[in-house]
Amino acid sequence: MEPLSEPAQLRAAAALIAGAERLVVLTGAGMSAESGVPTFRDALTGLWARYDAQALATPEAFEQDPALVWGWYEWRRELVERVGPNAGHEAVARRDAVVITQNVDDLHERAGSKNPIHLHGSLFTPRCSGCGRAAGAPAVGGAGTEGPRTPPSCEHCQSLVRPGVVWFGESLPVDALEKAVEAAANADVLVTVGTSGVVHPAAEIPQVTAKLGGTVIQVNPQPTPLDPFCAVNLRGPAATVLPEIIR
Ligand code: OAD
Repeated sequence: MEPLSEPAQLRAAAALIAGAERLVVLTGAGMSAESGVPTFRDALTGLWARYDAQALATPEAFEQDPALVWGWYEWRRELVERVGPNAGHEAVARRDAVVITQNVDDLHERAGSKNPIHLHGSLFTPRCSGCGRAAGAPAVGGAGTEGPRTPPSCEHCQSLVRPGVVWFGESLPVDALEKAVEAAANADVLVTVGTSGVVHPAAEIPQVTAKLGGTVIQVNPQPTPLDPFCAVNLRGPAATVLPEIIR
Protein backbone atom coordinates (compact mmCIF):
# COMPACT_ATOMS: atom_id res chain seq x y z
CA MET A 1 0.00 0.00 0.00
CA GLU A 2 1.25 3.47 -0.83
CA PRO A 3 1.60 6.11 1.92
CA LEU A 4 -1.52 7.98 3.03
CA SER A 5 -2.48 11.12 1.22
CA GLU A 6 -0.43 14.24 1.78
CA PRO A 7 -2.23 17.04 3.65
CA ALA A 8 -1.82 19.28 0.61
CA GLN A 9 -3.72 16.78 -1.57
CA LEU A 10 -6.47 16.55 1.02
CA ARG A 11 -6.76 20.34 1.13
CA ALA A 12 -6.87 20.55 -2.65
CA ALA A 13 -9.63 17.92 -2.82
CA ALA A 14 -11.59 19.63 -0.02
CA ALA A 15 -11.43 22.97 -1.85
CA LEU A 16 -12.57 21.42 -5.15
CA ILE A 17 -15.50 19.71 -3.43
CA ALA A 18 -16.46 22.81 -1.43
CA GLY A 19 -16.60 24.81 -4.67
CA ALA A 20 -18.52 22.18 -6.66
CA GLU A 21 -21.96 23.15 -7.90
CA ARG A 22 -22.84 19.75 -9.33
CA LEU A 23 -21.13 17.13 -7.21
CA VAL A 24 -21.35 13.42 -8.03
CA VAL A 25 -20.07 10.61 -5.81
CA LEU A 26 -19.54 7.20 -7.44
CA THR A 27 -19.00 4.36 -4.99
CA GLY A 28 -17.93 0.72 -5.08
CA ALA A 29 -17.46 -2.07 -2.58
CA GLY A 30 -14.57 -0.27 -0.80
CA MET A 31 -17.09 2.33 0.39
CA SER A 32 -18.77 -0.27 2.61
CA ALA A 33 -15.62 -2.20 3.59
CA GLU A 34 -15.20 -0.33 6.87
CA SER A 35 -18.84 -1.04 7.72
CA GLY A 36 -17.87 -4.73 7.68
CA VAL A 37 -19.11 -5.74 4.22
CA PRO A 38 -16.34 -7.65 2.40
CA THR A 39 -15.41 -6.35 -1.07
CA PHE A 40 -15.75 -8.63 -4.08
CA ARG A 41 -12.06 -9.08 -4.51
CA ASP A 42 -11.45 -9.86 -0.80
CA ALA A 43 -11.13 -13.53 0.01
CA LEU A 44 -14.48 -14.79 1.26
CA THR A 45 -14.46 -16.20 4.76
CA GLY A 46 -16.01 -19.24 6.42
CA LEU A 47 -17.97 -21.62 4.26
CA TRP A 48 -17.89 -19.16 1.36
CA ALA A 49 -14.07 -19.30 1.23
CA ARG A 50 -14.49 -22.26 -1.12
CA TYR A 51 -16.19 -20.08 -3.72
CA ASP A 52 -15.21 -17.21 -5.98
CA ALA A 53 -17.62 -14.30 -5.42
CA GLN A 54 -17.58 -13.50 -9.11
CA ALA A 55 -18.46 -17.07 -10.05
CA LEU A 56 -21.54 -16.89 -7.78
CA ALA A 57 -22.71 -13.68 -9.45
CA THR A 58 -23.84 -15.12 -12.80
CA PRO A 59 -27.14 -16.32 -14.30
CA GLU A 60 -25.44 -19.65 -15.06
CA ALA A 61 -24.53 -20.16 -11.39
CA PHE A 62 -28.17 -19.55 -10.38
CA GLU A 63 -29.40 -21.95 -13.02
CA GLN A 64 -27.00 -24.68 -11.93
CA ASP A 65 -27.39 -24.25 -8.18
CA PRO A 66 -30.14 -21.80 -7.21
CA ALA A 67 -29.93 -22.67 -3.50
CA LEU A 68 -26.21 -21.93 -3.37
CA VAL A 69 -26.57 -18.54 -5.07
CA TRP A 70 -29.75 -17.57 -3.17
CA GLY A 71 -28.09 -18.64 0.11
CA TRP A 72 -25.05 -16.51 -0.64
CA TYR A 73 -27.08 -13.37 -1.36
CA GLU A 74 -29.36 -13.94 1.65
CA TRP A 75 -26.29 -14.32 3.86
CA ARG A 76 -24.92 -11.06 2.42
CA ARG A 77 -28.26 -9.27 2.91
CA GLU A 78 -28.44 -10.39 6.54
CA LEU A 79 -24.85 -9.26 7.07
CA VAL A 80 -25.72 -5.81 5.66
CA GLU A 81 -28.74 -5.61 7.99
CA ARG A 82 -26.49 -6.17 11.01
CA VAL A 83 -24.01 -3.38 10.12
CA GLY A 84 -24.46 0.34 9.63
CA PRO A 85 -23.19 3.21 7.49
CA ASN A 86 -19.66 4.40 8.29
CA ALA A 87 -18.24 7.92 8.59
CA GLY A 88 -17.68 7.95 4.82
CA HIS A 89 -21.37 7.33 4.01
CA GLU A 90 -22.28 9.99 6.57
CA ALA A 91 -19.91 12.56 5.04
CA VAL A 92 -21.40 11.92 1.57
CA ALA A 93 -24.95 12.34 2.95
CA ARG A 94 -24.10 15.76 4.39
CA ARG A 95 -23.62 17.20 0.89
CA ASP A 96 -26.22 17.70 -1.79
CA ALA A 97 -24.66 15.26 -4.26
CA VAL A 98 -25.87 12.74 -6.81
CA VAL A 99 -24.77 9.38 -5.42
CA ILE A 100 -24.16 6.60 -7.95
CA THR A 101 -23.34 3.26 -6.37
CA GLN A 102 -22.33 -0.16 -7.61
CA ASN A 103 -23.13 -1.49 -4.16
CA VAL A 104 -26.19 -3.65 -3.59
CA ASP A 105 -26.38 -2.67 0.09
CA ASP A 106 -28.53 0.17 1.44
CA LEU A 107 -25.90 1.98 3.50
CA HIS A 108 -26.06 5.26 1.53
CA GLU A 109 -29.83 5.41 2.09
CA ARG A 110 -29.44 4.63 5.78
CA ALA A 111 -26.86 7.42 6.11
CA GLY A 112 -29.40 9.85 4.63
CA SER A 113 -28.39 10.17 0.96
CA LYS A 114 -31.49 10.82 -1.15
CA ASN A 115 -32.28 8.40 -3.98
CA PRO A 116 -28.85 6.93 -4.67
CA ILE A 117 -28.66 5.46 -8.18
CA HIS A 118 -28.11 1.69 -7.85
CA LEU A 119 -26.27 0.60 -10.99
CA HIS A 120 -26.06 -3.05 -9.94
CA GLY A 121 -29.44 -3.46 -8.26
CA SER A 122 -30.16 -4.17 -4.63
CA LEU A 123 -30.17 -7.01 -2.12
CA PHE A 124 -33.59 -5.81 -1.00
CA THR A 125 -35.56 -6.11 -4.25
CA PRO A 126 -35.83 -9.83 -5.13
CA ARG A 127 -37.85 -10.63 -8.23
CA CYS A 128 -39.18 -13.61 -10.12
CA SER A 129 -36.63 -15.23 -12.45
CA GLY A 130 -39.49 -16.17 -14.81
CA CYS A 131 -42.07 -13.37 -15.07
CA GLY A 132 -39.86 -10.65 -13.57
CA ARG A 133 -42.47 -9.46 -11.04
CA ALA A 134 -41.19 -7.98 -7.79
CA ALA A 135 -41.24 -10.67 -5.15
CA GLY A 136 -41.81 -8.50 -2.11
CA ALA A 137 -39.26 -7.48 0.47
CA PRO A 138 -37.47 -10.36 2.15
CA ALA A 139 -38.09 -10.93 5.86
CA VAL A 140 -35.68 -9.03 8.08
CA GLY A 141 -33.79 -10.45 11.04
CA GLY A 142 -32.52 -13.68 9.51
CA ALA A 143 -29.97 -15.74 11.38
CA GLY A 144 -27.07 -15.05 9.03
CA THR A 145 -26.67 -18.78 8.38
CA GLU A 146 -24.00 -19.70 5.85
CA GLY A 147 -24.83 -22.18 3.15
CA PRO A 148 -27.38 -23.03 0.47
CA ARG A 149 -31.04 -22.05 0.98
CA THR A 150 -33.92 -22.90 -1.33
CA PRO A 151 -35.26 -19.72 -2.96
CA PRO A 152 -39.00 -19.06 -2.64
CA SER A 153 -41.28 -19.58 -5.66
CA CYS A 154 -43.10 -16.77 -7.44
CA GLU A 155 -46.76 -16.64 -6.38
CA HIS A 156 -47.85 -15.86 -9.95
CA CYS A 157 -45.86 -18.28 -12.13
CA GLN A 158 -44.10 -20.59 -9.64
CA SER A 159 -40.64 -19.86 -11.09
CA LEU A 160 -37.86 -19.34 -8.59
CA VAL A 161 -37.35 -15.93 -6.99
CA ARG A 162 -33.88 -14.50 -7.64
CA PRO A 163 -31.88 -11.67 -6.04
CA GLY A 164 -32.60 -8.21 -7.47
CA VAL A 165 -29.00 -7.64 -8.43
CA VAL A 166 -27.20 -7.37 -11.77
CA TRP A 167 -25.08 -10.42 -12.52
CA PHE A 168 -22.07 -10.68 -14.82
CA GLY A 169 -23.30 -10.99 -18.38
CA GLU A 170 -26.55 -9.08 -17.63
CA SER A 171 -27.42 -5.52 -18.67
CA LEU A 172 -27.56 -2.71 -16.17
CA PRO A 173 -30.99 -1.18 -15.51
CA VAL A 174 -31.41 1.31 -18.38
CA ASP A 175 -32.93 4.06 -16.21
CA ALA A 176 -30.15 3.91 -13.64
CA LEU A 177 -27.42 3.91 -16.27
CA GLU A 178 -28.96 6.85 -18.15
CA LYS A 179 -29.32 8.90 -14.97
CA ALA A 180 -25.75 8.07 -13.94
CA VAL A 181 -24.23 9.05 -17.29
CA GLU A 182 -26.23 12.27 -17.36
CA ALA A 183 -25.13 13.20 -13.84
CA ALA A 184 -21.49 12.38 -14.67
CA ALA A 185 -21.65 14.45 -17.86
CA ASN A 186 -23.04 17.46 -15.98
CA ALA A 187 -20.78 17.15 -12.93
CA ASP A 188 -18.14 19.73 -12.26
CA VAL A 189 -16.61 17.41 -9.64
CA LEU A 190 -16.96 13.63 -9.41
CA VAL A 191 -15.50 11.71 -6.46
CA THR A 192 -14.90 8.01 -7.16
CA VAL A 193 -14.62 5.96 -3.97
CA GLY A 194 -13.63 2.36 -3.31
CA THR A 195 -14.05 0.90 -6.76
CA SER A 196 -11.49 -1.23 -8.55
CA GLY A 197 -12.53 0.36 -11.84
CA VAL A 198 -12.45 -2.91 -13.74
CA VAL A 199 -16.17 -3.68 -14.11
CA HIS A 200 -17.80 -1.97 -17.10
CA PRO A 201 -19.77 0.12 -17.86
CA ALA A 202 -19.56 1.57 -14.31
CA ALA A 203 -15.80 2.08 -14.74
CA GLU A 204 -16.44 4.47 -17.63
CA ILE A 205 -18.50 6.91 -15.58
CA PRO A 206 -15.53 8.88 -14.14
CA GLN A 207 -14.11 9.09 -17.66
CA VAL A 208 -17.32 10.77 -18.87
CA THR A 209 -16.79 13.56 -16.32
CA ALA A 210 -13.06 13.88 -17.07
CA LYS A 211 -13.53 13.94 -20.85
CA LEU A 212 -16.17 16.68 -20.60
CA GLY A 213 -13.89 18.91 -18.55
CA GLY A 214 -15.01 18.04 -15.00
CA THR A 215 -12.59 17.19 -12.21
CA VAL A 216 -12.30 13.64 -10.87
CA ILE A 217 -11.03 12.89 -7.38
CA GLN A 218 -10.33 9.31 -6.34
CA VAL A 219 -10.35 7.79 -2.84
CA ASN A 220 -8.86 4.29 -2.71
CA PRO A 221 -6.00 2.76 -0.69
CA GLN A 222 -4.72 1.15 -3.91
CA PRO A 223 -3.94 2.43 -7.40
CA THR A 224 -6.61 1.58 -10.00
CA PRO A 225 -7.00 1.90 -13.78
CA LEU A 226 -8.91 5.14 -13.06
CA ASP A 227 -5.78 6.90 -11.73
CA PRO A 228 -4.89 8.61 -15.04
CA PHE A 229 -8.34 10.28 -15.23
CA CYS A 230 -8.11 11.71 -11.71
CA ALA A 231 -6.85 15.18 -10.85
CA VAL A 232 -6.27 14.03 -7.26
CA ASN A 233 -5.62 10.45 -6.13
CA LEU A 234 -6.08 10.07 -2.38
CA ARG A 235 -4.63 6.77 -1.20
CA GLY A 236 -6.59 6.10 1.93
CA PRO A 237 -9.72 4.43 3.30
CA ALA A 238 -13.13 5.98 2.63
CA ALA A 239 -14.24 6.34 6.26
CA THR A 240 -11.15 8.41 7.10
CA VAL A 241 -10.62 10.39 3.91
CA LEU A 242 -14.21 11.39 3.02
CA PRO A 243 -14.92 13.25 6.30
CA GLU A 244 -11.70 15.21 5.69
CA ILE A 245 -12.59 16.31 2.17
CA ILE A 246 -16.39 16.70 2.42
CA ARG A 247 -16.91 19.30 5.10
P1 OAD B 1 -14.10 -4.44 -5.91
O1 OAD B 1 -14.24 -5.47 -4.83
O2 OAD B 1 -13.72 -4.83 -7.27
O3 OAD B 1 -13.03 -3.35 -5.48
C1 OAD B 1 -13.04 -2.78 -4.22
C2 OAD B 1 -12.10 -1.60 -4.26
O4 OAD B 1 -12.20 -0.96 -3.00
C3 OAD B 1 -10.63 -1.93 -4.48
O5 OAD B 1 -10.07 -1.07 -5.45
C4 OAD B 1 -10.00 -1.68 -3.11
O6 OAD B 1 -8.65 -1.20 -3.21
C5 OAD B 1 -10.90 -0.60 -2.57
N1 OAD B 1 -10.98 -0.53 -1.10
C6 OAD B 1 -10.83 -1.52 -0.20
N2 OAD B 1 -11.02 -1.07 1.04
C7 OAD B 1 -11.31 0.26 0.92
C8 OAD B 1 -11.62 1.30 1.85
N3 OAD B 1 -11.68 1.06 3.16
N4 OAD B 1 -11.87 2.54 1.37
C9 OAD B 1 -11.81 2.79 0.04
N5 OAD B 1 -11.53 1.85 -0.88
C10 OAD B 1 -11.29 0.61 -0.45
O7 OAD B 1 -15.48 -3.64 -5.89
P2 OAD B 1 -16.21 -2.82 -7.02
O8 OAD B 1 -15.26 -1.97 -7.78
O9 OAD B 1 -17.39 -2.19 -6.38
O10 OAD B 1 -20.75 -6.27 -9.59
O11 OAD B 1 -16.70 -3.97 -7.94
C11 OAD B 1 -17.47 -3.64 -9.04
C12 OAD B 1 -18.50 -4.70 -9.26
O12 OAD B 1 -17.88 -5.95 -9.43
C13 OAD B 1 -19.47 -4.93 -8.13
O13 OAD B 1 -20.54 -4.02 -8.10
C14 OAD B 1 -19.94 -6.30 -8.40
C15 OAD B 1 -18.58 -6.89 -8.61
O14 OAD B 1 -18.39 -8.15 -8.91
C16 OAD B 1 -21.75 -7.11 -9.76
O15 OAD B 1 -22.13 -7.89 -8.90
C17 OAD B 1 -22.39 -6.96 -11.09
